[in-house]
Amino acid sequence: MTRSVLGIIGGSGIYDLPGLENVRDETVTTPWGEPSAPLRHGEIADLPMVFLPRHGRGHIFSPSDINYRANIDAMKRAGVTSIVSLSACGSFKEELAPGSFVLVDQFVDRTVKRESSFFGKGCVAHISMAHPVAPRVADCIAKAAEAEDIAIARGGTYVCMEGPQFSTLAESLTYRQLGYTVIGMTNMPEAKLAREAEICYATVAMVTDYDCWHPDHDAVTVSDVIKVLLGNAQRAQRLIARVARDFPREHEPCPIGSDRALDHALITAPEF
Ligand code: ADE
Repeated sequence: MTRSVLGIIGGSGIYDLPGLENVRDETVTTPWGEPSAPLRHGEIADLPMVFLPRHGRGHIFSPSDINYRANIDAMKRAGVTSIVSLSACGSFKEELAPGSFVLVDQFVDRTVKRESSFFGKGCVAHISMAHPVAPRVADCIAKAAEAEDIAIARGGTYVCMEGPQFSTLAESLTYRQLGYTVIGMTNMPEAKLAREAEICYATVAMVTDYDCWHPDHDAVTVSDVIKVLLGNAQRAQRLIARVARDFPREHEPCPIGSDRALDHALITAPEF
């Protein structure tokens, strides 16, 4: 039996988890360097939790500068079995207006300058990313949202761009035509690394803007994003408190094997 430890990665606007009890901050280092901030350990309704603000306290790391490997490695060493990632994003769908929450189930990686694997020279592994979201974690989030009367759309594709600049109009229109649902700058390589670390992973994508494709809305600006972020953050914190209260206390094996991803992924011969 493995006990559940729930990791929460807070994105823009989410630098803390109110409601966390017995809080203890731990500064850690990993073989990949420093995570974005000290790990904040605590509990909600006796569920052990670990919180990490992705951009650091005070939002000091841009998406390209976040040490994603250190963040995931630190969570793994802290015993985290499932991660809920809270991430601000732009929307490509008219019906997903700013303020909407989306439980995405797919990612497209358009990042170009990030370390995106724990493996490489000396030890090669190819994990499956066909289904990047752990369905049980997504189910827990969906049920918690229903219980808290928080609207959340189920399913959708999050395209991750490098940034830090927002998209051009041509890019925005292209992504929309390709059928993507939302755009952000941080969920890749995070989702890939969580899978390599055999941690179940799901994202709540929180819409702050319509990117720049929408003819009735101005191009996205940071001040617009921040206005919506603050309302989103309060609902997200309420959602997480509910997820934590209802989360299974024992880790249940992931039906798609997120927590056993390396079982058939290593290709380097054991004697090397
Ligand atoms: N994060 C919030 N809004 C975004 C957008 N429009 N593009 C990329 N990342 C975002």
